[in-house]
Amino acid sequence: MSNRVKSVITGSGAALPERVITNNDLEKMVDTNDEWILSRTGIRERRKLEDGLSSVDLADRAAVEALEKAGLKAADIDMIIAATVTPDYPTPSTSCLLQARLGAFKAAAMDLSAGCTGFIYALAVGSQFISCGTYKNILVVGVEILSRVTDWDDRSTCVLFGDGAGAVVLQPATGDSGIVSFSLHSDGRGADLLKIPAGGSMIPASHESLQNKMHFIKMNGNEIFKFATRVVEDTLNQMMQKENITAADLDYLFLHQANLRIIDYIRKRLRMPEEKVPVNIDRYGNMSSATIPIALHEYIVKGAMKKGDLVAMVAFGAGLTWGGILMKW
Ligand code: UT7
Repeated sequence: MSNRVKSVITGSGAALPERVITNNDLEKMVDTNDEWILSRTGIRERRKLEDGLSSVDLADRAAVEALEKAGLKAADIDMIIAATVTPDYPTPSTSCLLQARLGAFKAAAMDLSAGCTGFIYALAVGSQFISCGTYKNILVVGVEILSRVTDWDDRSTCVLFGDGAGAVVLQPATGDSGIVSFSLHSDGRGADLLKIPAGGSMIPASHESLQNKMHFIKMNGNEIFKFATRVVEDTLNQMMQKENITAADLDYLFLHQANLRIIDYIRKRLRMPEEKVPVNIDRYGNMSSATIPIALHEYIVKGAMKKGDLVAMVAFGAGLTWGGILMKW
């Protein structure tokens, strides 16, 4: 990728619903407790979107902030990619709704469904349009309203998820900053491990599908846990070997926030200090494709990354999908 135009992040934004659901709130809804949730997942609280609002509302707020930080107007955007598994509608796409909301009428717009790896896939796709010179200003959004596909009677899943949106603007790099490499993977043989069974062409909405709660997330947590710990390290090693670097060279590692135990396991395996591996799962839960862009935005806002820093991001999720991005800040 070295001879091609690289992509840099020139602006970022995040949007979170105001309503906070604490572990104590959940104790009143299902047979669970703060001790179990905190020790097994690292989650203390999560956000839940107000009734009447949807993905595009959070995506819009995050996108406006990202554009402002990048010094761009909506009319400048060439392409919008919204990574989401909870779009406003099966069709049209949330990215088209966002295009209209922003007034970004020059932009091509598409949604990208790659589970919790969606933001990584979307960054990689966006960077390709910049690499080949087709586009200059790409808005990439990770947005999820998982509270709408969560069974609030199922303690094995309802304690895990949250709502949020993160956005970044990708532009061509001028110096040697930018996306150095990416690594994308999928294995559809694991499709049943994490899915929303109904609402698609396989099981359209019916009285039976509603009665059987088939429109909610079903997950085999144990298997996903094992899969995650394996593929995150593999993905990072692939990217690092290609660039002839080790984990000691990384300044920051943004991991998908699905479980603090997964994050800690990876961090310890790589012998990285806590301050280099951001955590926000305690405050927001698992927001699927929104977790990494929100964490990234929080670190950008506090000025953590300095020019030349090596930043890695790795995610995994439904599909199964997994992947990573390595970038020089
Ligand atoms: O975003 C991408 C995809 N998602 C993930 O990466 C999630 C990965 N998996 C996980 O994070 C973990 O597997 C979970 C947090 C989902 C579950 O943690 P675990 O340590 O694997 O627990 P478990 O499913 O093995 O359940 C252990 C026990 C069970 O009780 P018994 O059978 O031992 O009596 C569960 O019924 O904990 C029980 N349990 C709960 N107890 C209190 C399950 N959920 C709860 C709960 N509160 N909320």
